[in-house]
Amino acid sequence: MQPILTIDNVGKTYSNGFTALKPVSLAIRKGEIFALLGPNGAGKTTLISIICGLTSASSGSVHVAGHDIETAYRQARSIIGLVPQELTADAFETVWATVSFTRGLFGKKRNDAYVEKVLKDLTLWDKRDSKIMTLSGGMKRRVLIAKALAHEPDLLFLDEPTAGVDVELRRDMWRVVQDLRNSGVTIFLTTHYIEEAQEMADRVGVIRKGELILVEEKAALMEKLGRKELTVHLQTAIDAVPPQLAEFGLLLADDGASLTYTYKTGHERTGITALLRALDDAGLRLRDLETRQSTLEDIFIDLVRTQA
Ligand SMILES: Nc1ncnc2c1ncn2[C@@H]1O[C@H](COP(=O)(O)OP(=O)(O)OP(=O)(O)O)[C@@H](O)[C@H]1O
Ligand SMILES: [Mg+2]
Repeated sequence: MQPILTIDNVGKTYSNGFTALKPVSLAIRKGEIFALLGPNGAGKTTLISIICGLTSASSGSVHVAGHDIETAYRQARSIIGLVPQELTADAFETVWATVSFTRGLFGKKRNDAYVEKVLKDLTLWDKRDSKIMTLSGGMKRRVLIAKALAHEPDLLFLDEPTAGVDVELRRDMWRVVQDLRNSGVTIFLTTHYIEEAQEMADRVGVIRKGELILVEEKAALMEKLGRKELTVHLQTAIDAVPPQLAEFGLLLADDGASLTYTYKTGHERTGITALLRALDDAGLRLRDLETRQSTLEDIFIDLVRTQA
């Protein structure tokens, strides 16, 4: 399928000489939810700003549904909705006015039924006549989403959509994003909440110091890099791992009372049966067993650390 967004070797060096993006290439498929993860200053907002035409790239090209963002900016931009990272809103306007005005900015015909639907979907309908300055932070964020949707974009950028939002509202937002995807909108989001990517994304990208170090299907990533840990609590503490257990790469806890074995979740043979037999042969008596599944967060931390 033709990607809705194609990023080809996009680099960015700011005027002060700082290189925020090493050439980045990426294609976003129509209908997917793509999550871009990266620590502070990795270049997420820079990349989104280039795609949305707020900043110019120093090199490379971007096409949105086939339109070059430089030579066919208006066509490209009309397909894009952007929810920026920073909260900016016209404080004195009402919710209704700001959303319908934004629609007009994109040259779209007035469509009250559509604006009503957007406000209802975002649970802003009751607030439609409220001035934006009177809304809570979470509500303001919803208004930003409503504004970004005002001109019926096919591709929506959400730059840290749930930063500083409480857990309940975050889950609400996730539902809103899923609904948008179900209605055919392609979603590109950045987040610090790895749980968010784990919950929602079809594909995950990891950016670090301006370099896209990984792009992978979320499920494949969890499978490939996912680990499980089996911790064996011993009846009697030991000083060292018995040499005959060396092949299992066990980690002895500081207090000597437990051993941790790490294995890949994607593998058919985990080696657990052999381990338990070997423990028994070594004369170690078990008190308890415990397992822990790695999360996308563990994977992410490992990735960012090993590439340091
Ligand atoms: N106008 C600018 N001039 C110079 N450097 C800039 C400018 N804007 C951003 N940078 C730098 O570029 C790097 C990437 O910034 P960017 O905002 O893209 O990061 P980010 O991944 O969005 O971070 P965060 O997670 O904190 O939002 C940072 O080191 C930042 O200081
Ligand atoms: Mg940012």
